[in-house]
This record gives sequence, C-alpha cells and structure tokens, in this order.
Amino acid sequence: HRHLLGIKGLTEQDITLLLDRADEAVKISRQREKKTSSLRGLTQINLFFEASTRTQSSFELAGKRLGADVMNMSVGNSSVKKGETLIDTAMTLNAMHPDVLVVRHASAGAAALLAQKVSCSVVNAGDGQHEHPTQALLDALTIRRAKGKLSRIIVAICGDVLHSRVARSNILLLNQMGARVRVVAPATLLPAGIEQMGVEVYRSMAEGLKDADVVMMLRLQRERMAGSFVPSVREYFHYYGLDAEKLKAAKDDALVMHPGPMNRGVEIASEIADGPQSVIEQQVEMGVAVRMAVMETLLLSQNQGPRL
Ligand code: CP
Repeated sequence: HRHLLGIKGLTEQDITLLLDRADEAVKISRQREKKTSSLRGLTQINLFFEASTRTQSSFELAGKRLGADVMNMSVGNSSVKKGETLIDTAMTLNAMHPDVLVVRHASAGAAALLAQKVSCSVVNAGDGQHEHPTQALLDALTIRRAKGKLSRIIVAICGDVLHSRVARSNILLLNQMGARVRVVAPATLLPAGIEQMGVEVYRSMAEGLKDADVVMMLRLQRERMAGSFVPSVREYFHYYGLDAEKLKAAKDDALVMHPGPMNRGVEIASEIADGPQSVIEQQVEMGVAVRMAVMETLLLSQNQGPRL
C-alpha cells in the first residue's frame, strides 16, 4: 500500500504532479456539481486525536467529492476515552476494511506507526511537531497559483517554528522545489540545528521580511509550551506580530499566509489577516483540492500520478 506520511521522501516531480492534479480538483470544486465518481465504492476513515477545523472538514469534503464513503471517528466519544490505545483503535477500524485512514495525533511518528500495522493507505494529517504534509502541499499550490512558480521565490516563515509541523513540512517542500526559505523567530522558538534544514535564520522581522515574496505566519502554540517559555502576548506581538509596518519590508505584492487557526492580535493583526495581500481563504480552498489529489493518487490503481 502507498501512504503519505510526510514531505520527506517526495521528489520535485512527485510534488509537481500532485499540484497539477490539485489544479484540476480546484476546477471540480468550483462547479455547481462537485461530485465525481473516481473513488466510488472506497471507504475513507478520518481518525483525529487532536482538534481540527480545516484539515478534518476538507479531508471529508475531498473524499465525498470523489465519491468515497467517508466516516469521521469522533475520538471524544470513542473507546479511546476508556483507555484503548492508538494501535488497538486503528486495528479495530482496519478490520472494517477501509481503503484509507487519515490520522492526526499529538505524537510524532503516529501515522508512520499505523502505516506499518494496518492494511490500507495512511495519510498523515499532522503528527505532533513532526509533519503536516497536506498543509505544505496546499500552501505550495496557493503560492504557485499566485506567483506562477516556486523556484527562487523568497519565503519568510515567521514565529513559533519550534512547535510547528507546518513549518517543518513547508521547509522540506519549498527547499525541494528550489525556493529560498527563511525562518524569523526568537531563539526560544527555534529548534536546535534548524540551519541544517537549509534555511536562513533571522531574529528580526525587518531583516527577515526584506524583499520576501511570501510571508507565512505561524500560530503561537501555547498549548505545547507547558512548563517552558511562554512569551507575553503583548511583547510577542510587538516584536513578531505581522502588522502593516512590518509587512512594508516585504515586496509590495508579497502574499500573506497563515495555516490557521489564527490568533488575531498575537501573531497577526486583523487588518493584515483580512487585508488585500492575505491569501488565507485561498489556502483553505486549496486544502480541499490538494486532499482530493492526494487521495486519488494513493487510491487509484490506474493512476498516472506520482508514486508516494
Ligand atoms: N491548518 C490546520 O491544520 O488547521 P486545523 O488544525 O483546523 O485542521
């Protein structure tokens, strides 16, 4: 079986073919009749152990638009509450013959672990601080549609890089596609050895955003900071929150992105999130298309797309 566990391991050609297929899915999603039958008869189970608005709903819509039967496991009401383990939960669902399991979990490596155990495809919908591959793909699609390319563009990823699987997957993908990636953050919110991922590191927004084509803001993940450094919101916004003044350093036509959920007034000012350079809603639209493309690529036996 084939899985999508991370961006790591995907080639430039894999990514390009997935984005090309997603461009086609955008057209389907903009029609009045959005349903196709390419995955008719197949079963998709979404298994989310962490909260989600965008990822879970877009995976559900993606499966339905391709004609699959989609089931959302409500973990909060499941036997996980009685102590059933991740593996036992997944094996129980596996016995019902799904074709794909979409998994979000707080532990890095959870999706890869399940992929070794179950007999269907597994898609990683976010595993701890490790990877969120479909987020990076939808971000890439949003950028490619606006800028026409990914190679040689300057992307500044700003804020809580330390806790961000979104940042990790984006760095891997953008580097693979030949973009120039910067990270902009205080030292306390950067993982050790981040330079080894092939990024330029900046401490100041004024320097890090200079001439950027894309400014990608990250959510300050206070729920993952228990017992460690938690910055004051006011101080954080002063130095790292994206406002009109800081955005001036980037190119005039720079895109403003945020994976959501946003903390308005913490990492991004409302006037910027809702402003003319923001493509945050386009990112959400691209999320459905990318997930359609991923599911088709994994599940269609006759596909011409990338082998994941
Ligand atoms: N961007 C993202 O993963 O959002 P959700 O947590 O709402 O799915």
